Amino acid sequence: MRVRRCDGLKGEVRVSGAKNAALPLLAASLLVERFELENFPVLLDTLYALRILELLGREVELLPGRVSVKGGISSVRIPYEISSLFRGSLLFLGGLLGAVGRAEVAHPGGCAIGSRPIDQHLKFLSHIGAEVELEGGFVKVKLPPEPKARAFTFDLITVTGTENALLTLAGLRGEFELHNAALEPEVLDLVEFLKKLGLEVEVKGRSFLVRSPGRENLKREVSHRTIPDRIEAGTFLVAGALLGEPLTVKGLEVSHLGAVLEKLREAGAEPEVLSPSEVRIRRVERPRALEVQTAPYPGFPTDMQAQFMAMLTLADGVSLIVENIFENRFQHALELARLGASVEVRGKTAIVRGVERLKGAPVNATDLRASAALVLAGLVAEGETVVGKIGHLLRGYEDLDGKLRRLGCDAELF
Ligand code: EPU
Repeated sequence: MRVRRCDGLKGEVRVSGAKNAALPLLAASLLVERFELENFPVLLDTLYALRILELLGREVELLPGRVSVKGGISSVRIPYEISSLFRGSLLFLGGLLGAVGRAEVAHPGGCAIGSRPIDQHLKFLSHIGAEVELEGGFVKVKLPPEPKARAFTFDLITVTGTENALLTLAGLRGEFELHNAALEPEVLDLVEFLKKLGLEVEVKGRSFLVRSPGRENLKREVSHRTIPDRIEAGTFLVAGALLGEPLTVKGLEVSHLGAVLEKLREAGAEPEVLSPSEVRIRRVERPRALEVQTAPYPGFPTDMQAQFMAMLTLADGVSLIVENIFENRFQHALELARLGASVEVRGKTAIVRGVERLKGAPVNATDLRASAALVLAGLVAEGETVVGKIGHLLRGYEDLDGKLRRLGCDAELF
């Protein structure tokens, strides 16, 4: 994407449905005969997920703003050609297990932001008595008719691990306790969907008590609306803190953005909450330096770390960013340095020394959120910035260039 320095972002922007909510919901669609999802974000990752549903035998219809899925499941195998394209493919393991009790999913492999093992997903399955085999790059799983155990505690907090467990449990009749679960809004949105199917789920702290009527007794037809993308919203709020004249971000969910709004305030921005779904933000003369530590929700999201780093490259003072979730999620630091930023990475800490200005240059996106950070930096850097390997961005941001153009900036995909 080519981005030129922008004088100001003026007007309103509406955020799309959340990618990381739509993906588990599409996997959950395997549990019902007919499924409709509104506020559906059209992105590479969600389109890949629709392709998986088709490969499994489902009929998919993509309409403006929504998707409908129906028909039977004729295969339980997800080939490497598609699973390797996106990590979210792993959610179809849980979806298939919940729906039919069997799945063969090609291991999605590592990813640019860390080794990303799936041991917790498999540990849960073995714990409930599933046969788990790793063969020829595939994870092959067969569920027992009844779970062997009725409680499981995750060793660490995992978002898709929790979602996979919930999807699997939807198919198994009876009560089950999940402890040390992830509480990200996207996980809780899946819980809301599963409740519509007939599950009872109580959330107490980081524990879920799940009661399922069993796969034969689930509701057959369900529709749902995807929650707003809190990371896209956060990305625009950072853009607003850099360039808002003012910028109003609409269609978000303020209650999902607590840690992000808090850090923006600490940086000197004054986000005004106009309603539970609208925030107005103006540019800050010079952001104040911050200390940011990523943590599972409700902590500061790792998916906003790169965008905050882009903002802090121009801060007044020295910022410290600690990445606690992924071990290799600072690759954007080197790319930001190409624009004149001063970032030193020491293990899981990045030390960002604020500079007066950035200068446009060719850079490469290293992962999805890194690509958004480079676009943000490109908007404030002198001259022109060309962000290469933009395929990463297309996996998770719907029409980012179009949205930026409508706010008065010069951003162009080519
Ligand atoms: N982990 C393990 N073993 C496991 C599972 C996870 O060691 O079996 C580790 C991971 O390596 C990581 C930590 O646990 O260090 C947390 O990973 P988690 O499983 O929560 O991440 P994920 O479920 O693979 C989702 C999002 C990511 C987001 C993370 C953290 C989806 C499809 N992906 O990934 O989103 O960064 O949670 O919030 O929901 C993105 O959208 O750009 C993105 C990377």
